[in-house]
Amino acid sequence: MKPLSVLHDTFGRPLLNLRISVTQQCNYNCTYCHREGEAEQSNNVEMTVEEIVRIAKVAVDLGVTRVKLTGGEPLMRKDLCQIVSGIADIAGLKDLSLTTNGSMLSDIAKELHTAGLNRINISLATLNSEIYHKLTSGTLDKALAGIEAAVKAGFNPVKLNMVILKGINEQDSSDMIAYAEKTRVILQLIELDPVNINDTYYKQYHHSLDEQKEMLRQKALNIKQRHFMHNRLIYHLPNTTTIEVVHPIENTDFCMHCTRLRITSNGKLKPCLMQNNQLTDILTPIRQGADNEKLKQLFKQANQQREPYNKNTNT
Ligand code: 5AD
Repeated sequence: MKPLSVLHDTFGRPLLNLRISVTQQCNYNCTYCHREGEAEQSNNVEMTVEEIVRIAKVAVDLGVTRVKLTGGEPLMRKDLCQIVSGIADIAGLKDLSLTTNGSMLSDIAKELHTAGLNRINISLATLNSEIYHKLTSGTLDKALAGIEAAVKAGFNPVKLNMVILKGINEQDSSDMIAYAEKTRVILQLIELDPVNINDTYYKQYHHSLDEQKEMLRQKALNIKQRHFMHNRLIYHLPNTTTIEVVHPIENTDFCMHCTRLRITSNGKLKPCLMQNNQLTDILTPIRQGADNEKLKQLFKQANQQREPYNKNTNT
């Protein structure tokens, strides 16, 4: 069904994206992980395939066109392909993507593609296997195999999520650009968010990305902005490589162009990565027999609570 109109929040921002955490479980233990901003342990309460697909359908009926699956590590769910095919079948959805650490991807990439997944983002902070292990507790080779399998399976684009950490990998973006060029993937340079990590860690490792932006500005053939994706900067380099810069901290432009709503792994609508004071439980009403009208109301309520974390006080 085609939505009559898109929901807008009280700041005029359209609601176009739903980011669904399908589990809190993860086989990695990344030092920098924001755990999608989830403050509480879900105590293994997870939404079923049917519940996830139903929630996604309600969102699409309300004008959402893009869905991203995250975790934890979404591949920890044995029924991930069912989740993907259920959501991919929703009429009106334009884009279904997944964020993963890639370590378990090589065996299942093709199946996910066949099930209807369009795009994959893979976390990769470094190409140094020792540093990779220290940061994630995982094995670099497995992630690289996952990246190659994703490209081979036909995902377009595959993106690498490189969180920049001062003193760890801030010098490595050129190597990563070369790797992105070789593997034909898009590289995203991501500023460290202070969510779910302690102050000392943040102060020690946060890096502003100014140097990276300057380096890219000098190399780029052209620079564009993605209006409905936080006004992110996209740098097109001469060697056909594309680099996106995700720079959310104290960035009013980023927040003013946010078009997202999140859903936590235990079924709560969450208006902002950075905040946990405005959660709307949708799973409990579903389990108590709520109809779709009620679920739409809950979405509208959560949408009204969306608020830019950094507000532009000049306008
Ligand atoms: N700051 C910024 N990005 C982060 N990610 C995880 N933790 C953080 C953080 N503290 C990114 C990873 C992962 C995606 C889900 O979020 O790159 O790919």
